[in-house]
Amino acid sequence: MLDKVQELQQYVNSFSATSLEELEDFRISFLGKKGKVTLLFNEFRNVPNDQKKEFGGQLNKLKKSAQNRIIELKQGISSSQNHSNLDIDLTAPAQPYELGSRHPISIVKNEIIEIFSSIGFSISEGPEIEDDWHNFSALNFPENHPARDMQDTFFISKEIALRTHTSSVQVREMENNQPPIRTISPGRVFRNEAISARAHCFFHQVEGLFIDKDVSFGDLKQTLNYFTKKMFGDSAKIRLRPSYFPFTEPSAELDVSCTICNQKGCNVCKYSGWLEIMGCGMVDPNVLDNCNIDSTKYTGFAFGMGIERIAQLKYQVNDLRLYSENDLRFLDQFKNANY
Ligand code: DAH
Repeated sequence: MLDKVQELQQYVNSFSATSLEELEDFRISFLGKKGKVTLLFNEFRNVPNDQKKEFGGQLNKLKKSAQNRIIELKQGISSSQNHSNLDIDLTAPAQPYELGSRHPISIVKNEIIEIFSSIGFSISEGPEIEDDWHNFSALNFPENHPARDMQDTFFISKEIALRTHTSSVQVREMENNQPPIRTISPGRVFRNEAISARAHCFFHQVEGLFIDKDVSFGDLKQTLNYFTKKMFGDSAKIRLRPSYFPFTEPSAELDVSCTICNQKGCNVCKYSGWLEIMGCGMVDPNVLDNCNIDSTKYTGFAFGMGIERIAQLKYQVNDLRLYSENDLRFLDQFKNANY
């Protein structure tokens, strides 16, 4: 008897129908008053007691799957019939494909990469989950520096955190290569900040590093001047202001002349005519030594910029949250970008 149930089960599994009539025949022959399944149910009382449980279970399963199969096939048949009834105009012009666009962060990242590649910088990447050494200690952060604080950093454990900047990649590059090193490192970084128009818990940076014999602050200035003009146009001017970073000495902040008001004064540059776009400086000898590079032989410069910040100035995006909301009305506006 069980064999019979299994045989019917196999039939149900492989049954298919192309018309509603065929399906109705199947229903009657299986589930109708004299259908195969119904007859088996009538046999139930003749099954020995110790087999009743298994037989009953299998039989119920068979009935269920026959019912489901009918529903499934019915849907298939009616949807294909609907199609054939559709009033299709075969002469209508085709719907054009909607072209997607690159994300503005990718566009700006690619443009930065292109500019630095053209003057000999390689591209390097590092992990987003980073250890204390690469994110802080090797970069000369004092033990109690506020940037290590829980408020800024997403810690995974005491020693492991989400990287707070791409400067961690310059450490990895120096540890694994000897000068000359000339590389940029684009990537995503994380900070434990409340999300608002002006701050986000993740954003993107490009780190730059150049180490060789006799690299000077003049080289830094010329390189960044070249970059700024390529990025914002020949009329863009730069200004370097003294600043502090643990990993550079001396350190500076680089401002670009306001691309929005041409230095006439506007609310983006807060009527100063200048916009801050990156931090930079000469790599601190302690950092070189930490990464096994002889600081008596080599010098170098480094810089780091936020991609969102550059995109904000290029495209006048005034709310950081737009970059990660995937709103097509925002993303659609970047269709004409070249990168
Ligand atoms: N890591 C810094 C930050 O996240 C940016 C930076 C400043 C990078 C100066 C550098 C540098 O390489 O020299 O704010």
